This record gives sequence, C-alpha cells and structure tokens, in this order.
Amino acid sequence: MTAETITSGAPGPAGQDGATGDVLLRLDDVHTYYGQIHALKGVTIEVNRGEVVTLIGANGAGKTTTLKTVCGLLHPRQGTVTFDGQDVSKTAAHNLVKAGIGHAPEGRRIFSRLTVLENLQMGGFTRPPEEIDEDVERIMTLFPRLKERTYQQGGTLSGGEQQMLAIGRAMMSRPRLLLLDEPSLGLAPILIQVVFETIKEINAAGTTILLVEQNALQALNIAHRGYVLQTGNVVLTGDAAELREDETVRKAYLGEI
Ligand SMILES: Nc1ncnc2c1ncn2[C@@H]1O[C@H](COP(=O)(O)OP(=O)(O)OP(=O)(O)O)[C@@H](O)[C@H]1O
Ligand SMILES: [Mg+2]
Repeated sequence: MTAETITSGAPGPAGQDGATGDVLLRLDDVHTYYGQIHALKGVTIEVNRGEVVTLIGANGAGKTTTLKTVCGLLHPRQGTVTFDGQDVSKTAAHNLVKAGIGHAPEGRRIFSRLTVLENLQMGGFTRPPEEIDEDVERIMTLFPRLKERTYQQGGTLSGGEQQMLAIGRAMMSRPRLLLLDEPSLGLAPILIQVVFETIKEINAAGTTILLVEQNALQALNIAHRGYVLQTGNVVLTGDAAELREDETVRKAYLGEI
C-alpha cells in the first residue's frame, strides 16, 4: 500500500528549526506480527535528526507496535529498521538503549516500589556511574515536580507525575532518539500543556523525537512532520501544518464532523 503524501512546497517548521534532512531512523516496509496477527503491514517511516515526528491513528492502528519494533521489544518479520545507518532489525532492546534509543512506554510503566530517584537512576543504567547524579539533576530541573518528590515511591505519584517520571527515566540514557507513547494520556489539560512544552524543550536541546499521540491536534502543533496509521498501514504523511489542515485528518482525528 502506498501512502499519500501532502506537500505544499512551502518550507515547514522542520526547515526553520535546524532539522537537517539527515535520516536518523528509517523503517522500510516493516511487517511485524504477534503470532499470527499481522499488526504492521509494510510500514515505511523516516525520522530526520532534530525532528519531532508524530504518529497518529485510531486505537489498534499499530502505533505502539511501531514504537516497540523500533526499540527492539518486537522484531520485524519482514523489512528493516535502520538507526544511524546501522540495520538494527534484530538488535536486542537493551543494546538499542546503549545505541541511543530511549523509550517511554504506553501506560507509564515505572517501577512502583522504587522511589522517584531510584526510578531515574535505573533509567541511567547505560551511563557512566559518575554522570548519573548530574543527569538526575538535569531531569529534575526539567520536571520540578519530580524534585519535590525525590524520595516518594513511584506507585504513589499521581498519574501526571508518573508520566513525567516515565519520560524523565527515558531521558536518563541521554537518547539521541526518544520514543514517546501517549505521553498525554489521562492527564488534566494543564498537565498536558506542561508535557507538550517539555517535549518541545527536550527537542530544542537536541533530542530527536518520535511521538505517538491520540491527541492529534496537540501533537501536530509541536511536530515537524506526521504519519497517519490505519490498521497497520501508513495512509498519509506530510508536514504537520499540512496534516492539520487536511480534511480527512480533521474529520477522523481532530474531532471535527
Ligand atoms: N500482545 C499482543 N498480542 C496480540 N495482538 C496484539 C498485541 N498487542 C497489540 N496487538 C494487536 O495489534 C494491533 C495494533 O496494536 P497497537 O497496540 O500497536 O495499536 P495502537 O495504535 O497503539 O492502539 P491504541 O491507540 O489503542 O494504543 C491491534 O489490532 C492489537 O489488537
Ligand atoms: Mg498504543
């Protein structure tokens, strides 16, 4: 299946923000299965260095499966995943963390019995021990709420705080590519703003981001480009501004009728 591409010819925000067009991540005709279930049916996606790219799509479209295939929790049965010029289709997840891929999974999978500090320290397992304190400090500056709760158990944090901790923990490995799966899910509007602002800051500080969101409008507001997934296929791609104006996207994902 070939995805439709929308382009206006006008330079998008990617051009203004220093994204170079230099490909960091590429999925080429990726097919991923859960047993007999064919979840990704030939997904081709590119993320350039410096970009925020968003994947949008309905429940069950294959967004989470795409991120899991990138971070090595699943491996494609067909097709390739290339990260920084290397074929990583069969590379184990912990080696991909070392290679520079950070993943904040769906559903805030933090360690509930460990404190905020311990959760962050765990996220830095690939870093030299002497740099961990400095990195914890960096994350706590990004999320002051976490600093106030340094010694609180992860499981007793509010949903929004757990979400911040999940993002912060993924940042601890100093990823070159950060995968975020539904970072705004279940958050109050004010916290959604905080999370999206923080994603922008993380990107501005040099991290490339692949962002999965059901909150398509917010995601398209901070992304340079986007892909629309439908039942395991990319059906549409383009600059974020153009996707925001696209009638199909507006009807299907931006809640307009
Ligand atoms: N562990 C699993 N075993 C079998 N099928 C699965 C498994 N995980 C996901 N699937 C199926 O793969 C397809 C894609 O699921 P995926 O979780 O990637 O969707 P999604 O786009 O992230 O949806 P949502 O917005 O609901 O999170 C769905 O049809 C789903 O039922
Ligand atoms: Mg999902």
